[in-house]
Amino acid sequence: MAADSSAQILRTNTPQLFDAAVVAATKELESGAVVALPTETVYGLAANALDESAVAKIYEVKGRPAHNPIIVHVDGVNMAKSCVGDWPESAQKLADAFWPGPLTFVLPKSDRVPGIVTAGGTTVGVRWPGHPLMHQVIKACGFPLAAPSANRSNELSPTNTEHVMKSLGNQLGLIVDGGQAQIGIESTVIDLSVSPVRILRPGIIHEESIEAALGEDVLVGGENGDGGELKSPGQLLKHYSPRAKVLIRSWDTPAELDACVAAIEGDRERIWLLTHSNVPLHVEGAQVCVVPHDPEAYARALYAELHRCDEEGAENILVEDLPDTPEWRGISDRLARASA
Ligand code: TXA
Ligand code: MG
Repeated sequence: MAADSSAQILRTNTPQLFDAAVVAATKELESGAVVALPTETVYGLAANALDESAVAKIYEVKGRPAHNPIIVHVDGVNMAKSCVGDWPESAQKLADAFWPGPLTFVLPKSDRVPGIVTAGGTTVGVRWPGHPLMHQVIKACGFPLAAPSANRSNELSPTNTEHVMKSLGNQLGLIVDGGQAQIGIESTVIDLSVSPVRILRPGIIHEESIEAALGEDVLVGGENGDGGELKSPGQLLKHYSPRAKVLIRSWDTPAELDACVAAIEGDRERIWLLTHSNVPLHVEGAQVCVVPHDPEAYARALYAELHRCDEEGAENILVEDLPDTPEWRGISDRLARASA
């Protein structure tokens, strides 16, 4: 780790650069270092999942509380099976339908996975990510990679290298640039160790498509597991937050929007508006950002917009309410946490 100096950013936009980045990242990971790597959801802060002291560095760099377990990234079903004690039919069905992709399975952990990865718990989160760079690095390493999002604890997740640099640049040696994250919000986390299975963190893969793949009902929401322990600490209400205050509101007419803006306390010149449907032509003082009214495009753009609001000095971000349908649920979840 190169403390107090800026991380090196490796580009991957030609086959030669891609291969060189795989070699460099693998070398670092083999030596027990942490490296920021692209995934299709958000950028990850990766370390050898089987090396306790390497994983300890992830907690240190992020300032992550020791009770929050880390997702283990694998390069296929066989490696996933080596990390878990049991591979139920539900896991096979969901892997067939959605892997590689933005879906994390929580299953009983195998003895191979050190307790520090699971925060001392008996289950482990495993995911086969879809990004080709991540895939090649795990393959070259031959071991799974523990990787939370590459931001300081409780901050917004990064969807490009500038975001990683801003949050952790002076604590990292290497950041691999795999482009803008294609999905843009974190994976759906589903607990397959319970019956019925339960979505702990909603995401772009939503309950209806999971139910269709499984052929059974799925529960949603995982604040607390049996006995009230924290089942998915990422589900703490306050999480994924920009510095600016996020306010979620709905309006139909320009007059209703004006009333929303007028009700905001603080500097009128520092209000940012994030809209998708009821786009105003002009709002006195406020900056207007328009995000596509399509859940996949919206998810891809959301964190970059929130990061930008912070950079440009927004004090309040007024976000237009989202439709209440399954495709939007993962995004609504992140906005609710950002506004908490
Ligand atoms: O898309 C993603 O999932 C990204 C990329 C890098 O893969 N990773 C990510 O990691 O968002 P992180 O650490 O920021 O969030 C992981 C979430 C947390 O809410 C954590 O509590 C939950 O997954 N989690 C991990 N292992 C778990 C387990 N064994 N049981 C319950 N929840 C778990
Ligand atoms: Mg995170």
